[in-house]
Amino acid sequence: MSYFVGIDVSTTATKALVIDEQGAVIQTASTEYDFDTPHPQWSEQAPSLWWHGTTKSIRKALAEADIPGKEVTAIGLTGQMHGLVLLDAAGNVLRPAILWNDQRTSAECDEIIERVGRAELIACTGNDALTGFTAPKILWVRRREPAIFDKIRQVLLPKDYVRFRLTGAYATDRAGAAGTLLLDVRKRDWSGEVLAKLDIPSEWLPPTHEGPDITGTLSAEAAEATGLAAGTPVVAGGGDQSAQAVGVGAVREGIVALTLGTSGVVFASVNKPFIDPDGRLHSFCHAAPDTWHLMGVMLSAAGSLRWYRDTLFPNTSWDDLLDPARDVQPGAQGLLFLPYLTGERTPHADPMACGAFVGLTVRHESKHMTRSVLEGVAFGLRDSFEIMRSAGLTSIDQVRISGGGARSTLWRNILADVLETELVTVNTTEGAAFGAALLAGTGVGAWRDVHEACSATIRVTGNTPRDPETAARYRPFYRVYRDLYPALHASFRTIADS
Ligand code: XUL
Repeated sequence: MSYFVGIDVSTTATKALVIDEQGAVIQTASTEYDFDTPHPQWSEQAPSLWWHGTTKSIRKALAEADIPGKEVTAIGLTGQMHGLVLLDAAGNVLRPAILWNDQRTSAECDEIIERVGRAELIACTGNDALTGFTAPKILWVRRREPAIFDKIRQVLLPKDYVRFRLTGAYATDRAGAAGTLLLDVRKRDWSGEVLAKLDIPSEWLPPTHEGPDITGTLSAEAAEATGLAAGTPVVAGGGDQSAQAVGVGAVREGIVALTLGTSGVVFASVNKPFIDPDGRLHSFCHAAPDTWHLMGVMLSAAGSLRWYRDTLFPNTSWDDLLDPARDVQPGAQGLLFLPYLTGERTPHADPMACGAFVGLTVRHESKHMTRSVLEGVAFGLRDSFEIMRSAGLTSIDQVRISGGGARSTLWRNILADVLETELVTVNTTEGAAFGAALLAGTGVGAWRDVHEACSATIRVTGNTPRDPETAARYRPFYRVYRDLYPALHASFRTIADS
């Protein structure tokens, strides 16, 4: 037998997933950890946690499935994007990694805009300067930790640190690299111009590869640590969002992946670079070769519902919380919820944005509040679809929904009506790790390409049609929702400064 392993180095755990040659999931194992917040707005993690999580999870998955390590014939990597890992000349970690959800770099984002020019930056990298991205973090270390900066010889993304420990090679995938703000998204390689303007040595960055490319093989030391065979190929893989999209088969233009996890992601594959000149959407390379994608990210999607339940209705089951909201009419009797509980990225790149209930009256009961949370998240996700359409992306043929929130029929119905599109679900539920395993199999020829890998293993299992009448009833509420952020923007600033 031959198996493929996908490794997902996420913010909360490292997961190993084993699939067979048909793409059937045989086993998964996870090792959990935390991240540190040494100062408000900071978010850091020790890279050793990821390596420990990788070796432990691989060993556990192999043992539980009773699979000999030598039967694993390829490994694919995915994981949290945008993080900054710094190594010295000997490959030692110089400081804790600064993660994607760290917000310390506002001043450095301004510096990037000043040095490169906003329009030029967006036109080249496909993205505006955002605090969570990698480049401003490098500038932050230069300014605040010069002694560490002087020792930097290698800059890596989190999952590429695991790759380095597995193979001894420095390498990255182009999907992940696009989240650094240093990649020329059209050329699918580092931008010499942006690097020069930011005064970042290009030798610090690893070579870039397409998702299924083999970037190295397992070293004897890593074989010993994981229980896998030395010489096993490790493919580039992809940043978590693009690997997630591979994992649900969103690899060709027209198919949009909508992920309703803690964050909410609208991911649209495109056949050529498609850059929103206003930088409201991310424009990245896809893990599928020579494919790109547009992406809108809501920071608190299912995270909003979890906060709402844990804060106001602790110890209540999801069914008990959601069932009463079924009877509430669309629009929750004029109650609107803004889901900006941890700031926002799309469409308002604003770490200071706050959540809100607007329109509360004595007529509202808890079931109206519940419904307005579900609807508010749906309205926020509609913002991303609206921007995609207004930027000229008209070819949305199918929307594939996944993630924990997609398990609720009520929420799927609300989303189909608010987004005014049918939603479909697929048979695969293991997300990014599954996508990474498919990229691994593709890299060693189990499938001809990523498209064949997806069509051989992923199929549509259900659909949630939109109801035209309900969709029409949502439109006026969406218009009100859209006006609320601009109306409250100044108050959010005042609150942040107080
Ligand atoms: C993508 C993003 C998150 C992180 C953490 O842009 O910020 O998906 O990769 O999962």
